[in-house]
Amino acid sequence: MTDKKATLEIDGIDDAIELPIYSGTLGPDVVDVGGLTAQGLFTYDPGFVSTASCESKITFIDGAKGILLHRGYPIGQLAEQSDYLETCYLLLYGELPTTDQKAHFLSTVGLHTMVNEQICTFFNGFRRDAHPMAVMCGVVGALSAFYHDSLEISDEHHREIAAFRLIAKMPTLAAMSYKYSIGQPFMYPDNSLSYAENFLHMMFGNPCEPSTISPVLAKAMDRIFLLHADHEQNASTSTVRLAGSSGANPFACIAAGIAALWGPSHGGANEAVLEMLKEIGDVSRIEEFVARAKDKDDPFRLMGFGHRVYKNFDPRAKVMKEAADEVLAELGIEHDPLLEIAKRLEEIALSDEYFIEKKLYPNVDFYSGIILKAIGIPPSMFTVIFAVGRTVGWIAHWNEMISGSYRIGRPRQLYTGYTERDFVPTSQR
Ligand code: ACO
Repeated sequence: MTDKKATLEIDGIDDAIELPIYSGTLGPDVVDVGGLTAQGLFTYDPGFVSTASCESKITFIDGAKGILLHRGYPIGQLAEQSDYLETCYLLLYGELPTTDQKAHFLSTVGLHTMVNEQICTFFNGFRRDAHPMAVMCGVVGALSAFYHDSLEISDEHHREIAAFRLIAKMPTLAAMSYKYSIGQPFMYPDNSLSYAENFLHMMFGNPCEPSTISPVLAKAMDRIFLLHADHEQNASTSTVRLAGSSGANPFACIAAGIAALWGPSHGGANEAVLEMLKEIGDVSRIEEFVARAKDKDDPFRLMGFGHRVYKNFDPRAKVMKEAADEVLAELGIEHDPLLEIAKRLEEIALSDEYFIEKKLYPNVDFYSGIILKAIGIPPSMFTVIFAVGRTVGWIAHWNEMISGSYRIGRPRQLYTGYTERDFVPTSQR
C-alpha cells in the first residue's frame, strides 16, 4: 500500500476524482477504481488486459522479462530441483516442506487416490467416443455428489480435504477417461509409485501384466505437471475464483475451471498444436501456413505461439524444450514426421519478422504437445493432463480467496443495446 494517488478529471464533472494507488511486492502498481461507481462511472477493460481482479501471494509473472515465480521461487529452479507434489505443497501452504512435512503430504495424497467405486458406473453413462475433457467436466463436477464431507467451504479442514481429494483423484479420473475411450479396464492406483509414475501406470498398464515405467518418461511427466501447476490469474483460474466467489463447492468450481481450460486459446492449445502439425502434413507446406498465420483476413493462427503475458519468452517453454529433447533421446525418436515439422516451424517462426515484431514465441504448449505425443499419449488427452497439473493452482487460488475477505464477483458492462421501448403484440410485428 502507498499514499500515491491518481487524479481523474472528467468532462462535465466539476471535482477531480482521487483514486488510491496500491503497490505490491513486485509488479505494476494498481489504481483502486472501486469508488467510481459512486460517481456513476464504471471502468471498461474487455479481456481484463489491465485489470487486477484480486490480491494474491501465490504466483508472480513478469511477462516482459520472462519471469515466473511460485511463492517467490523461480520456475526453472523448481523444475530442476523440486518435483510436482513438493510444488503442490509450496503453492498450497506458502513454504517448501521439510522432509517430514513432505513425507506426510505424499502419504496423505496417497490416501485419496482411489475414487468411489460408484464413479465407475457414472463413466458408463458417457459415449465411448466422448472427448475426455467432456468426461472430465462431468465427473469432476460430480465429485460433489460423492464427497459430502468436504463441502463446507467455511471450514478450513473441509477445504484441506477437498484439496487433497482433488489433487489425488485427478490423475485417476484422467486415466479412467482414457481407458474408457479405448474400452480397457480401469486401473486402480498403485501408491508405491510416484505421482507421475502412478499416472503412467493407470494410463498404460493393464491388469494382466506388471507395469514397466521408464524413469525418464516419468520425470518428463512430472515436469509437465509441475510446469502447469499455476499461472496466476489466467482464464481458468479466474473462472474458478469467480465460481467460488458465489460460495459454490470446490468440486463444482474446479469443474468450471476445466471447462474454461478446454478452449484452444488456453489449455486446448496443446491438442490444437498437434492437429495443426497434422494439417501442415509436410515440411514443404510450412511456408504456406506461416503466410496464412500472417494474413489478417485469415483466422488461422500458429497454435503454440504467442501468449497474453509473455512478450519475451515463456520460461516454462525453455524447460519444456529441454525435457522434449531428453524424451526424444530416451525413446530414440530421430525421424518423426510431425516432430520434423514442429522443429522446422519453430526455426522459421523465430526468424520471421512478423513473429519477432509481435513478440510471438513458442509457448509451453508447443513443446508439451511434442513430449506427450512421443510418450504415446493421444492428443485428446493433452488438455486433460494440463488440467491434472493445474488443479493445485486452481485449488490454491480458491482457498486463498475463501480464507480471506471476498465478495461475489460481479463485473459491470457498457450497454449498447436498445433503449427502453414498448412491447409489440405478435399481430402487429
Ligand atoms: N499466430 C499468428 N498471429 C498471432 C498469434 C499466433 N499464434 N498470436 C497472436 N497473433 C497476432 C494477432 O493476430 C495480433 O496481431 P495484430 O496486432 O496485427 O492484430 C497480435 O499477434 C496480438 O494478438 P492478440 O490476440 O491480441 O493477443 P492476446 O494476448 O489476446 O492472445 C493468445 C494471446 C490467445 C495466446 C494468442 O497468442 C493465440 O491465440 N495463440 C495461439 C493459441 C495458443 O497457443 N494458446 C496457448 C496459450 S498458453 C496457455 O494457455 C498455457
